[in-house]
Amino acid sequence: MPHFLNLIDQPAELLARLLDRAAALKADRTTGRTALAGRVVGLVFEKPSLRTRVSFEAATAQLGGTSLFFPGNEIGLGWREPLPDFARVMSRYIDCLVLRTFKHDTVLALAEHGEIPVVNGLSDRSHPCQAMADLLTVREHCGGVKGKTIVFVGDGNNVSMSLAVGCGKLGARFVLACPKGYAFDETFKKNYTEKIGGDFPEILHDPLAAVANADVIYTDVWTSMGQEAERETRLRKFAKFQVNEKLLAKAPPHCKVLHCLPAHRGEEITDGVMEGSASVVFDQAENRLHAQKAVLEWLLAVGR
Ligand code: CP
Ligand code: NVA
Repeated sequence: MPHFLNLIDQPAELLARLLDRAAALKADRTTGRTALAGRVVGLVFEKPSLRTRVSFEAATAQLGGTSLFFPGNEIGLGWREPLPDFARVMSRYIDCLVLRTFKHDTVLALAEHGEIPVVNGLSDRSHPCQAMADLLTVREHCGGVKGKTIVFVGDGNNVSMSLAVGCGKLGARFVLACPKGYAFDETFKKNYTEKIGGDFPEILHDPLAAVANADVIYTDVWTSMGQEAERETRLRKFAKFQVNEKLLAKAPPHCKVLHCLPAHRGEEITDGVMEGSASVVFDQAENRLHAQKAVLEWLLAVGR
């Protein structure tokens, strides 16, 4: 049973093929419009979402399928009945499950016990659909992914871990500029080294120096969903890691700025950079739709 839980378990060739397909789906929006005919995609979300929810629902509709949305609490995910029972019942009704969860283990458990493809729509450790849209955006705005330098200024979180893996698989250089104590953890390092190998992403603590050769500067919120109790500490620790005009001036003139959104303007990024000519954040948000159409097509075509 194919799943899309993280990028580390997907072959580089598949990722490249999905990006090609996403570009084709974007170029002609009528492409694939019956690919999911008769298929039902269920979305179960424990956390809020704009982009992931709406782009998956729109993608499903544009491919001829139907989507159903369930807030995790309402459907009783993880507390009303055991996860394996939940997974087995859902598998009898729908054809694909998109999950947004607190714990990555919940995503793994539903993939293990269900009988339908599972897509990770964000967990505490991974946001693979975001990374696919990010790579599509880099490809469009930087003339390809291979050989490019992506500098993530911020937290070693779900978004940066997935993008680091995508870059490793597709031959881009990934640099994380973060405060001490907020880099990738040992579990990620071990997994990356075993499954990708080569050079591990560079970890730097001086953001101004880190962006000197950047083709892309990327940032995300300093406090992810579920970390709200750490907000005050994080605001202090990340204060020097804001993507602002001074930082951007240290990067090459062609450098683009990405952000997965939602943005906390005035915290991790300034209004000026968000609205400036280097910013491609809304193209990036749009690309969630096209990248996910490619993923849904692949998953449901394989399972046919
Ligand atoms: N980037 C992203 O996943 O946005 P949402 O949280 O709004 O889905
Ligand atoms: N790192 C953020 C990403 C939101 C799309 C979070 O997990 O809240």
